[in-house]
Amino acid sequence: MVLLRGLFQSCCLFLLIFVVCCIPPEDPIKCSSDNTDCTITNSYGAFPDRSICLAAEVAFPSTEQELISIVSKASRNKRKMKVATRYSHSIPKLVCLDGQDGLLISTKYLNRTLKVDVEAMTITVESGVTLRQLINEAAKAGLALPYTPYWWGLTIGGLLSTGAHGSTLWANGSSVHDYLLELRIVTPGFAGFARVWSLKDGDKDFNAAKVSLGVLGVISQVTLKLQPMFKRSITYLTKDDSDLGDKVTSFGNEHEFADITWYPSQRKAVYRIDDRVNTNSPGNGLYDYTPFRPTASVALGVIRTTEDFQESLSDALGKCLSAQTVILTLKTAAYGLSNNGILFTGYPVIGYHNRFQASGTCLDSVDDALITACAWDPRVKGEFFHQTTFSVGLSVAKSFIQDVQKLTELEPKAMCGVELYNGILMRYVKASSAYLGKQEDAMDFDITYYRSKDPLTPRLYEDILEEVEQLALFKYGALPHWGKNRNIAFDGVINKYKNAKEFLRVKKVYDPFGLFSSEWTDQVLGLKNSVTIDKEGCALEGLCICSQDIHCAPNKGYYCRPGKVYKDARVCARVTSK
Ligand SMILES: Cc1cc2nc3c(=O)[nH]c(=O)nc-3n(C[C@H](O)[C@H](O)[C@H](O)COP(=O)(O)OP(=O)(O)OC[C@H]3O[C@@H](n4cnc5c(N)ncnc54)[C@H](O)[C@@H]3O)c2cc1C
Ligand SMILES: *[C@@H]1O[C@H](CO)[C@@H](O)[C@H](O)[C@H]1NC(C)=O
Ligand SMILES: *[C@@H]1O[C@H](CO)[C@@H](O)[C@H](O)[C@H]1NC(C)=O
Repeated sequence: MVLLRGLFQSCCLFLLIFVVCCIPPEDPIKCSSDNTDCTITNSYGAFPDRSICLAAEVAFPSTEQELISIVSKASRNKRKMKVATRYSHSIPKLVCLDGQDGLLISTKYLNRTLKVDVEAMTITVESGVTLRQLINEAAKAGLALPYTPYWWGLTIGGLLSTGAHGSTLWANGSSVHDYLLELRIVTPGFAGFARVWSLKDGDKDFNAAKVSLGVLGVISQVTLKLQPMFKRSITYLTKDDSDLGDKVTSFGNEHEFADITWYPSQRKAVYRIDDRVNTNSPGNGLYDYTPFRPTASVALGVIRTTEDFQESLSDALGKCLSAQTVILTLKTAAYGLSNNGILFTGYPVIGYHNRFQASGTCLDSVDDALITACAWDPRVKGEFFHQTTFSVGLSVAKSFIQDVQKLTELEPKAMCGVELYNGILMRYVKASSAYLGKQEDAMDFDITYYRSKDPLTPRLYEDILEEVEQLALFKYGALPHWGKNRNIAFDGVINKYKNAKEFLRVKKVYDPFGLFSSEWTDQVLGLKNSVTIDKEGCALEGLCICSQDIHCAPNKGYYCRPGKVYKDARVCARVTSK
């Protein structure tokens, strides 16, 4: 173990200085020939239930006109359709078609910027444009989209459809869809001909189309509201987490781009003090977030092997020590911030918004072997994880945090596994008028943790992570991120949205025969049976909440038990003598 730890530590340092680039992520769609007989997966190469999704064919429209004719033809044939994107970054099975006869419509070539209106401060782009492109095009015109997700690789169509966001409690909040002015969407309509809807802020159906999970039709283009480019000043401040619950709301009100990274086992929280500053403040800082940089495949393999070992030996202390190294390394490297694009010399880091708001250099391409990659690239042995992401209403965020702290007091090492993936990222989101958007101002918690390659192998502190998930979702009624999470997060989720009926009404009008729907979206929207799957070991993968021991791993000593703090939780706990 000592040797492994040493290797692990040198790898961590190694990957921070390793900047040679990688080949770009693989296309999530693979076809046998001629764009037929296809399979689709996500950028991690695994859906929550590990199934493989099929399609008879994939179409690559490069104009709205082509898109219309594709949707028309499929509608006439009553063929099922789904929209796919360049990288397919969502974890759940949103992109899956039922069966094998459906059509995938890829937005890969719908990637042009159509108009930047400097006077009106708007940008119009096709839906396959990536966040990176959008940020760059806006910046060229001296404009900025103020709040965005932190990752370049998302497409506008995909991030809107899943309600993606950055972090702020200011203005209209951090969700990109709350800065949407217009949207064009191609739907099947009634008569078997495609119909194009041009919707504007204020139109009745706009609130349905802003966040639509892809079930209304294909968004062809959107117009977003921008602002004049501005500068920001960022300082990361590490503190004790004892008063974290008291701080959440006030911290979000005090700083426009605030977020918090929480390490519950280390009892620490890192506050991102991040505000707009005068444009003449000196500084040309850059945020090239370390975990989104190209990482040496060799290092990824060693790190994964170490974690596999720690898991198999129940080496909780080892995980805690590894996590400390990771966190210290990230902190020393200022998480990827630099004052001038190269070197970090100290806080505050001041620079232009477009150089801070998102990153993802691991997407860059040089034709090469897989020497480096994005850390989760399924082609190399690297990270493989679950991601549980939900927003807890701000009014109860403090109690939720305190419950997690109580759990951590009972099991001090339990959250080290989460800290290995840089802890819990906490971001602010605001209530939205989108029917499937946030229902109230909330704190979003992003939790990433080990997933075994073997679906029947439990993870260390399985029970604690499951309890945190159930605490949030059920005790505090948290809303799951549509583009992340395991199945149980979506069980009965639609009842948490007060305008769900309105959304379903619009869906019926736009896609009366449900050609853009699938078993998964019907289940999520409450139109079909539940998203949970009852089988051996299902609770380990978040496919069910355990009600019997067989849902856990009794042969490995994991049994279904009540939670420790939240007694209504049912979790897979390791029982040493039974
Ligand atoms: C490394 C990484 C970092 C991330 N960071 C953040 C973050 O900071 N904040 C955040 O909120 N989320 C984040 N996410 C999650 C992410 O927001 C969602 O998974 C995302 O929205 C997916 O975008 P995509 O373009 O890959 O779309 P996909 O996952 O391919 O598609 C998502 C859904 O949208 C539909 N869709 C896509 N395009 C269209 C269209 N043109 N018309 C109609 N429907 C369409 C698809 O059919 C599918 O149902 C991150 C994910 C990763 C992998
Ligand atoms: C659009 O995507 C294609 C395929 O990935 C790429 O070759 C092309 O350069 C992109 N166009 C723009 C404007 O980025
Ligand atoms: C917020 O939304 C309202 C209503 O849609 C709009 O009038 C206003 O301009 C938006 N504010 C910002 C900062 O975008």
